[in-house]
Amino acid sequence: MSPDPEPPPGIDVSRPAAARIYDHLLGGSHNYAVDRQFAARFEEEWPGIAQNARINRSWVQRVVRLIAAEGIDQFLDIGSGLPTAQNVHQVAQAINPNAKVMYVDNDPIVLAHGRALLEGPHSAYEQASVQDHEVVLAQASQHLDLSQPIAFVLSAVLHYVAEEPAPLVARYLHHLAPGSYVAVTHVITEDVDPAFTRQLADQFPDMHPRPIASIQAIFDGLEVLAPGVVDAQLWRPEENLPIGPQRLIAGVGRKA
Ligand SMILES: C[S@@+](CC[C@H](N)C(=O)[O-])C[C@H]1O[C@@H](n2cnc3c(N)ncnc32)[C@H](O)[C@@H]1O
Repeated sequence: MSPDPEPPPGIDVSRPAAARIYDHLLGGSHNYAVDRQFAARFEEEWPGIAQNARINRSWVQRVVRLIAAEGIDQFLDIGSGLPTAQNVHQVAQAINPNAKVMYVDNDPIVLAHGRALLEGPHSAYEQASVQDHEVVLAQASQHLDLSQPIAFVLSAVLHYVAEEPAPLVARYLHHLAPGSYVAVTHVITEDVDPAFTRQLADQFPDMHPRPIASIQAIFDGLEVLAPGVVDAQLWRPEENLPIGPQRLIAGVGRKA
């Protein structure tokens, strides 16, 4: 295998990074040896990790298609990750060519590789943390009309934040128009081998699996779409993807 290219300036490749590991698990090329080694160690001990990544990504695509088909033409995707095949703007614009997408991620690698691939006539990318709702909403308002409903996509990002997700999401929902959707996936603590959880905490301390009640709380006061807050592979599945060692929960709510 040829050696990795020189990382872009300012990119730390001495430690694995979530965006790059996920990219590797999905078969992407924006990752480094440290990320692949981390993923390989985990996959060896806990087969199915890559499967979780595919389950998550396939859910994002189903949800974006569904919400676009409902007539929503603006998407705010935070924790967008590195560009893969069928990014949110491609999925949404396959249904509505005028759908606008604003991508946000806090990892500079996504900025380095993502901007060129994620930006287009109707899509934009900004670097920020999901925790900084004022910054994100100010950036989003440059590209989206926040007086109209949007789809707020938080897929596999809130478990990288130490803050409880419900109050964090509520800070955004407060500013979003009625009819807006919020779509979330999150890893949970229930029914997971405690040895897996310990190893994850040890090797990837930035990740915060939570009890399912913490994720359900995000949807308090929202109209929750069927089938509710359930394992992502069971949320309106289109194919049968067996789950890996980590449970990943998904839900979609609509602000009345
Ligand atoms: C597992 S990837 C998910 C990518 C994509 N949302 C998906 O579901 O396919 C998690 C992404 O969240 C980003 N992330 C982690 N913490 C973040 C934060 N505080 N603010 C914004 N993005 C964050 C990571 O850089 C990474 O790109």
